[in-house]
Amino acid sequence: MSAVPISVSTLAAMKSRGERIVSLTCYDASFARLLDSAGVDLMLVGDSLGMVLQGHRTTVPVTLDQMVYHTACVSRGCERALLVADLPFLACATPDRAFDAAARLMQEGGAQVVKIEGGAPVMEIVRRLSDQGVPVCGHLGLMPQSVNRLGGYRFQGRDHASAEAIRHDALALQDAGATMLVLECVPAALAGEIARTLNIPVIGIGAGAECDGQVLVVYDMLGLNSGRPPSFSRDFMTGRESIGAAVAAYVAAVREGSFPAAAETPF
Ligand code: KIV
Repeated sequence: MSAVPISVSTLAAMKSRGERIVSLTCYDASFARLLDSAGVDLMLVGDSLGMVLQGHRTTVPVTLDQMVYHTACVSRGCERALLVADLPFLACATPDRAFDAAARLMQEGGAQVVKIEGGAPVMEIVRRLSDQGVPVCGHLGLMPQSVNRLGGYRFQGRDHASAEAIRHDALALQDAGATMLVLECVPAALAGEIARTLNIPVIGIGAGAECDGQVLVVYDMLGLNSGRPPSFSRDFMTGRESIGAAVAAYVAAVREGSFPAAAETPF
């Protein structure tokens, strides 16, 4: 595996060549080394760490200090993959908070891109961060930080109005300067249409196989679930002897387009 570091331009070039982008969440240096040597293109220090590491029911309790800490841990083990870190709950409530959070994730944590959940309410912040040289990854569809307003973890974009809103916000995020977009738990046809319409890479999770790339929570793809695994995930650990072999199988399945399969595409 080439150690040439992946940049946002690398991912844009992969999209234009039709090469699928492979991404996993990552929360520490040991996993970062393993994922890097397996050829994962993008490591996401997701605030899902609040659930899979800390045992919370939602991502809401995760603080900026915790995100900075885990991003710095991953950054020490990551040489090749692009390092993206989540802005945690309410870090975008004001432009000042968003600037402070992005600065800390990049300067103390070593993140190269910050991910922000939301559409219209965060659009101006995305524009201002991008104008200041901060690469931003948007996140639409199911936005876990809004779980208390949504009333649960549900697929989004299944009716006309909600699909229209996601289409509109995706284009608006690109216009505001976002360099990539995560679409979570939206119908495959809608995700595919958005991926074909946008110039920026669209990474799906529970969004079908037509996105430019795929991301999963690393614990889900290793079968480490205390409850019912997400319907769109696959346990790559079953039948394999090591975590390295499971991650390599995930990388191969995403690259060749065999993950997600129809059974892992609920809508
Ligand atoms: O926090 C996270 O892990 C995420 C992914 C599920 C996309 O946002």
